[in-house]
Amino acid sequence: MIACIVCMSPNGVIGKDGVMPWHDPQELHYFKEQTMGKDILMGSVTYAHLPNPLPGRKIHVLTRHTNIIQKEAITLWSEKAAVLDRWKDSDDILMVCGGASIYEQFLPYAKRLYLSILKTNYEGDRFFPAFDEEMWELIEKRQYATFDAYQLQRKTK
Ligand SMILES: NC(=O)c1ccc[n+]([C@@H]2O[C@H](COP(=O)([O-])OP(=O)(O)OC[C@H]3O[C@@H](n4cnc5c(N)ncnc54)[C@H](OP(=O)(O)O)[C@@H]3O)[C@@H](O)[C@H]2O)c1
Repeated sequence: MIACIVCMSPNGVIGKDGVMPWHDPQELHYFKEQTMGKDILMGSVTYAHLPNPLPGRKIHVLTRHTNIIQKEAITLWSEKAAVLDRWKDSDDILMVCGGASIYEQFLPYAKRLYLSILKTNYEGDRFFPAFDEEMWELIEKRQYATFDAYQLQRKTK
């Protein structure tokens, strides 16, 4: 199964100049809690800008290059189709962690969405793709000081 996990500001911003334009330790803790022990997928830009290692998670990076700088053991994928073959119809979960180009390509296949929405707007140059809220059912909402965390499940037709 494919799931997307993202933190965005209310205006849809997820990134600026290769990084996230906020530092929210509580949201990072939420991200850690939701991804711990799981396979996670990110694009090479997001991977290159990771400020810290992500222990306890199996990192998969989508890239057309084989010479990216690897800071720890990661698995490289060059084909989106191969990632979909591995996880789309599997009971194993792949947490898709961005950035924008990766969300664009994988959100259509996601059955679950972990959506953190900050309470403050930020300016940025990367956005989460528009999606139809009617297609998603709310299964959990947690409220934190600086953001709300929604867990959504794609409705079955
Ligand atoms: N707020 C959040 O929750 C969140 C989460 C993650 C990231 N972000 C932000 O998102 C921004 C980065 O997003 P981005 O869209 O610029 O970059 P990205 O999605 O992280 O990475 C793009 C790269 O992924 C590879 N790629 C994408 N599609 C591919 C495909 N079909 N096949 C093979 N490789 C593929 C390419 O790598 P190569 O060029 O190496 O081939 C491409 O240049 C940053 O600002 C980051 O902070 C925010």
